[in-house]
Amino acid sequence: MKVGRNDPCPCGSGVKYKKCCLHRNKSADMNTTSVYAKRYNIRLKTARDVEAIREAGTLVLKTLDQVEAAIRPGMKTDEINTLVDEFSRRHGGIPAPLNYRNFPKSVCVSVNEVICHGIPGQRVLMDGDIVNVDVTTVLNGYFADASKTYFIGQPGPDARKIVSVARTCLDLGRRQVKPGSTIGDIGWAIQQYAESHGCSVVREFVGHGVGFEFHEPPQVPHFGRKNTGLKLVPGMVFTIEPMINLGGADLKILDDDWTAVTRDGSLSAQFEQTILVTDNGFESLTPYEL
Ligand code: MF3
Ligand code: CO
Ligand code: CO
Repeated sequence: MKVGRNDPCPCGSGVKYKKCCLHRNKSADMNTTSVYAKRYNIRLKTARDVEAIREAGTLVLKTLDQVEAAIRPGMKTDEINTLVDEFSRRHGGIPAPLNYRNFPKSVCVSVNEVICHGIPGQRVLMDGDIVNVDVTTVLNGYFADASKTYFIGQPGPDARKIVSVARTCLDLGRRQVKPGSTIGDIGWAIQQYAESHGCSVVREFVGHGVGFEFHEPPQVPHFGRKNTGLKLVPGMVFTIEPMINLGGADLKILDDDWTAVTRDGSLSAQFEQTILVTDNGFESLTPYEL
């Protein structure tokens, strides 16, 4: 297929080729780009898009660093919300959670048995708690999404274990990412590590494409079988964000319609990064050591 500079871009964006995929990573050819757009509704990212998401990612990481420096026993989860909201805006960002599908706050703060989507409020962090802080920031119109689980004071053995397993799950998941691997390879690596350590993988929430919007296709389950699902191609950007429970995988949603908690009350931990598929592997656009 021969596309002129001023023709509509074959990726389906509706803008001119020269304003869009002409600048794409050359290894994803136009055929792949249009197949992923038309068949899967996945918009591959150009080098320019990637740079913008990386900048949003840098702000997300700086925000998480501020949280890490401030977090302590006796702090209310709403103080984390204030910190994240003010820091993001002061640096030109917009906290994506606020008003997203009626979410009332600027960050998700999930303590102990809370799996995800905890709403910051009057809960006071206690010595021995684990708390996931999930930051998504829009900068210059681009989204990056990352989270970490922190210890408050001195962790007990259960807290240490679940945080360690969740951290390793993200690392093993992201190491599967390269062109030609599949979405199922990511979930398989995570599930097999978590379950072999006696932990369980949450099914109801998955990783997701990200960059132009908060949540884009594809979905990235944290369980699965090798060699199944979509093939990864350069220019895909998605999160991996395994939620790992110390007990069973089942959850319930509280009356606030957001807070997801383990049904058995066991601890749950999560780490999340925004991952780019490169020509020969992956790059985290929200990189931190795992
Ligand atoms: N940041 C979460 C994720 O990783 C989504 C939170 S949705 C919100 O996808 F509305 F609760 F913010
Ligand atoms: Co996410
Ligand atoms: Co997130």
